[in-house]
Amino acid sequence: MEVIIVADAAEGAREVADVFERVVRDAGPVVLGLATGSSPIAAYQELIRRHREEGLSFADARAFLLDEYVGLPAGHEQSYHRFIRENFTSHIDMDDALVLSPDGGAADPAAEAARYDRSIGEAGGVDLQILGIGSNGHIAFNEPGSSLASRTRPVVLTESTIADNARFFASREDVPQLALSQGLGTVREAREIVLTATGENKARAIAQMVEGPVSARWPGSALQLHPKVTVVVDEAAGSEL
Ligand code: GLP
Repeated sequence: MEVIIVADAAEGAREVADVFERVVRDAGPVVLGLATGSSPIAAYQELIRRHREEGLSFADARAFLLDEYVGLPAGHEQSYHRFIRENFTSHIDMDDALVLSPDGGAADPAAEAARYDRSIGEAGGVDLQILGIGSNGHIAFNEPGSSLASRTRPVVLTESTIADNARFFASREDVPQLALSQGLGTVREAREIVLTATGENKARAIAQMVEGPVSARWPGSALQLHPKVTVVVDEAAGSEL
């Protein structure tokens, strides 16, 4: 893992955007793995700026989201399907039909998860995956205890993740308790990964991810098994390294 400690969110956004730009410019038709949550937003804004001002094009790119809540009504403002469009893909020249996510409204969530997992492989796999990390170390929605080899599947969110994400909803009771999430095994198949985090509440998860034992207790530590990971953190998130 390469760890880059940045002075502030703006510098972090430029570092992450640089990784994206290298892959998007060099690789021709590219498969991007996109994350939701607040951590990647500054990087997405920087990429939108580069698209508008510097002609960075995503016309040859397609995208797979990491995860989706189960049971939110279609178009719900907190669905990740909507989030990624509002915060990134509708502001660049990526074909909307090629921005894919698990269907959180599917009648059979396990079958939908398996279908989604297969579709990533059929697209040739992910060239670059961006990740955030939960304060309990979760990656996508792989909560502590998730198998390091797990595939896309229905998952039950922990109380701490529901509490963390309640800030996006009207109340804690409105946060779904289930999600469909790429597994740690799925995520680790991406050819390159960039993970970004800011703030002191991520410091322990970052330290366990980078320096702890590889363990399902801290799902981020699975990334130690990956050959090409860049971690971009501010000083607060890196403070326990
Ligand atoms: C959610 C997402 C994760 C994300 C995490 C951290 O649970 N499923 O992909 O990394 O939250 O979110 P934030 O970046 O808002 O701290």
